[in-house]
Amino acid sequence: MADTWQSVMDHAVAVARKAGEVVRGALTEDRKVTTKSSAVDLVTQTDQAVEQLIIQSVKEKFPTHRFIGEESVAAGEACVLTEEPTWIIDPIDGTTNFVHSFPFVAVSIGFSVSKQVEFGVVYSCLEDKMYTARRGKGAFCNGEPLQVSEQKEIQHSIIATEFGSSRDPEAVDKIFISLRNVLSLPVHGLAPVDTHMHRVTHSETDANLERWAAMKRPGGYGALLKGTSAVTRRVRGAGTAAINMCLVASGCAEAYYEIGIHVWDVAAGSLIVSEAGGVLMDVEGGEIDLMSRRIIAANNKTIAQRIVQEIASFSPPRDDAPPLKQ
Ligand code: IPD
Repeated sequence: MADTWQSVMDHAVAVARKAGEVVRGALTEDRKVTTKSSAVDLVTQTDQAVEQLIIQSVKEKFPTHRFIGEESVAAGEACVLTEEPTWIIDPIDGTTNFVHSFPFVAVSIGFSVSKQVEFGVVYSCLEDKMYTARRGKGAFCNGEPLQVSEQKEIQHSIIATEFGSSRDPEAVDKIFISLRNVLSLPVHGLAPVDTHMHRVTHSETDANLERWAAMKRPGGYGALLKGTSAVTRRVRGAGTAAINMCLVASGCAEAYYEIGIHVWDVAAGSLIVSEAGGVLMDVEGGEIDLMSRRIIAANNKTIAQRIVQEIASFSPPRDDAPPLKQ
């Protein structure tokens, strides 16, 4: 049977490659940086130009398709996922990396129909790696099939995460608590939460906040870690959600989690992970909701659920929340 969306996907791959050329070219020039939601949420003229390049080229070929683009939303367009064919675009995932020439930068394009991602394309433009996935047909990097790692023990895992661009103190505290929990598995003595089959409750989260405050005092960090044994092999972050997810799909990392990402950061990567055999989960263990700004993408359920136990969860405003009235 003919694949309805294959020609659309072929176009996405071609335009992602073209966008990648523009990004690579821009690295040789001065980058004019401005900020969006916070002092660390950066945008450049290249982000905006690349998004327009992608949208224009799609409009010429598929005039009825809709768009959710990072920079269009930043400019005031609605972020609403309908049943219609919709391109979900992050022109430069890893803008901070791009600004600093830190070499992980991706063009990320997800394509959704009836609110289901049909294909995902992530072009890691400095590595020249084209990651693709078509629903039900597997995930690939430069044409080679991808498969997640078989590891089931978190102590033998690499976990990727990021700090996001919110500097709201409560969010930052919770991000650090989760990080410390993940780094300190399994917990002995001074641990903030019991390890086995245990979810972080609100009162535990409050207790964690107190411990974190104690940790920030001089000498507090060492005192807090004394008696714990860090067993997660390493925590990593490439500086782009999309590439972190492709690393999970490739079997180089067991999981990636983050609270604060946006639908354009993860739409394409989520399909690449699941088509490579991985799982997607909300940070509280429920079903993934791409508009919720929370994600765990893991090689398997065991690892994903183990991370759920360690996350101090919170809920940033949803991507599809109606704009606040002035
Ligand atoms: C960001 C990156 C970063 C993640 C942020 C994202 P952007 O996307 O994916 O790794 O921590 O949450 O917003 O702004 O570079 O497109």
